[in-house]
Amino acid sequence: MDVSTIKVGTPVTAGLGKLFQTHGLSLKTVVLFDEHTRKLFGDALFETLREEGFQWKELVVPAREASKSFNAAYRLYSLMIEADVDRSWNLLACGGGVVGDLGGFIAASYFRGIPVIQLPTTLLAMTDSSIGGKVAINHPHGKNLIGFFHIPELVLIDPAYLRTLPKREIFGGMSEVVKYGFIADEAFLSFLDSHFNDIVQLKEPFLTEAVRKSADTKADVVKKDFRETTGLRATLNFGHTFAHGLEKLAEYRHMRHGEAVSIGMVCALFLSRNLGYLDQASLEKGLSILGRFRYPRGLVKRRFIEVDSSELLENMLSDKKKLDKKLRFVLLKKLGEAFLLEKNVENEAVIQAIDNAKQFFKGKNPY
Ligand SMILES: NC(=O)c1ccc[n+]([C@@H]2O[C@H](COP(=O)([O-])OP(=O)(O)OC[C@H]3O[C@@H](n4cnc5c(N)ncnc54)[C@H](O)[C@@H]3O)[C@@H](O)[C@H]2O)c1
Ligand SMILES: [Zn+2]
Repeated sequence: MDVSTIKVGTPVTAGLGKLFQTHGLSLKTVVLFDEHTRKLFGDALFETLREEGFQWKELVVPAREASKSFNAAYRLYSLMIEADVDRSWNLLACGGGVVGDLGGFIAASYFRGIPVIQLPTTLLAMTDSSIGGKVAINHPHGKNLIGFFHIPELVLIDPAYLRTLPKREIFGGMSEVVKYGFIADEAFLSFLDSHFNDIVQLKEPFLTEAVRKSADTKADVVKKDFRETTGLRATLNFGHTFAHGLEKLAEYRHMRHGEAVSIGMVCALFLSRNLGYLDQASLEKGLSILGRFRYPRGLVKRRFIEVDSSELLENMLSDKKKLDKKLRFVLLKKLGEAFLLEKNVENEAVIQAIDNAKQFFKGKNPY
């Protein structure tokens, strides 16, 4: 399985025309933004496109999850048809995961598919959503229910774009970064432990190193298990079974995805230890890294501490990713090595792990 060419650098768009040509891409591109990324990066990007000899068509959607909708896609198809965009064009998605998923969805379907190039601007998009080719829109019944596998030709990552990103979004993306350490690379986890503050303060070379390593890890996992058949790609969901329940409980409004994932990983670490897979020292090292996450006014943490553990379990069970009402858990064997647990986990064990995590966030000794 071939995955995209990932380029990390500043400015990543230098020599864009030549790069497109070497990848067989025409210099005719539809550029998709959300309102924020249009304002922040649009003019400079158009300047580059002009210098590099591109013809382009600009499209903008509101900066919210609701833009990943059939209505938004339909409106954009119309604008593209009216602008005579045909198969010889490609689409450049400049924004966070919303723009990347929507842009990828449109590219996968427009004229039976045109190439997509991802230019991610959030930490989550740089390290997760822009890589791997999953693109989707939402349905009123659930997130990401309608979509494709559509691999981007290029993923262009410029960590300098993160300078304008709110801290809460940085921490949110950071939980996926830390996730890669947990599931795939203990040395990377130690690097993140030592440089956590440097990275969230966007200090170089730490930031670029963290972004590059995360992007490479995701690409590597996707390459080895593109269609999620061996269980390897599923390990990207470490912490996510708990997180999805939490997000649902918070009505997808009061908690960012990454916030739920960092809490979910605390639960998953305890579950790994409680079921006898992970040793105590590794649990404690993992918790010390996850204890570094800071969210506004302690709100997120307080919400979690006040959650009723069995109510959270019910919300986890009602998440779409369940298979036959059985929850699937990704656990750690050790730091840097995850696996998808095949056997069923008793409800009591899940609740126990949530209770342990609540104790941890209360600052009490949960060991
Ligand atoms: N396809 C996948 O594999 C995959 C994986 C994970 C998440 N996702 C999807 O990603 C989406 C979430 O992505 P996200 O967290 O990037 O959110 P987002 O795209 O909504 O961006 C968050 C906010 O940051 C703003 N923003 C973007 N870049 C900025 C910058 N550089 N400076 C200042 N503001 C900036 C955006 O306008 C938006 O308001 C969800 O829809 C999720 O389903 C997809
Ligand atoms: Zn995630």
